[in-house]
Amino acid sequence: MIKDVERVLVSEEEIKEAVQRIARELEKDYEGREIMFVGLLKGSIAFMADLIKEYSKTCTIDFMAVSSYGSGTQSSGRVNIVKDLSVPIDGKDIVIVEDIIDSGNTLSFIKAYFAAKNANSVRICTLLNKPSRRVVDIDVEYIGFDIPDEFVIGYGLDYNEHYRNLPYVGVLDRSVYS
Ligand code: IMP
Ligand code: MG
Repeated sequence: MIKDVERVLVSEEEIKEAVQRIARELEKDYEGREIMFVGLLKGSIAFMADLIKEYSKTCTIDFMAVSSYGSGTQSSGRVNIVKDLSVPIDGKDIVIVEDIIDSGNTLSFIKAYFAAKNANSVRICTLLNKPSRRVVDIDVEYIGFDIPDEFVIGYGLDYNEHYRNLPYVGVLDRSVYS
């Protein structure tokens, strides 16, 4: 464990089990339909990669990049599209893949954006959820773990663009940002 990690919150093994559980749920729920997974860059990369490898049915993937955070540990509430979808999504069954839902600002913006583009359905799949931090009400259909209000890093999640490569989710030591 590196020194900036106060403690491991979700281990590699626990992540693996959650990925398998969610993949099985998706296979069941989307029986006879084809999912288009849309990963939100950059935080979702690890989860997205593991989830699509575990998912055994036919599917397509795409990515979007939005910015909401700047460089601190607080959400700004503003969402900008940094990279848009590369294909039309009308009529598609979309599963948005996200690393973590905090205030809910990012996902409520993205969901409205997809609805306006006439997707057939839009559901949200997140590895981590911080329910105590929610500012906007939003339905989240697939959740890996509900976690307490602590700033976490690893498995795609960053602080100032670092720590995304850790294979587990850890709590960032407060001394790093305070
Ligand atoms: P929201 O718009 O407030 O729900 O924030 C969602 C985005 O904020 C996520 O995609 C993350 O990039 C970032 N974020 C929220 N909480 C954390 C955290 O604990 N660690 C790292 N990034 C976070
Ligand atoms: Mg993010």
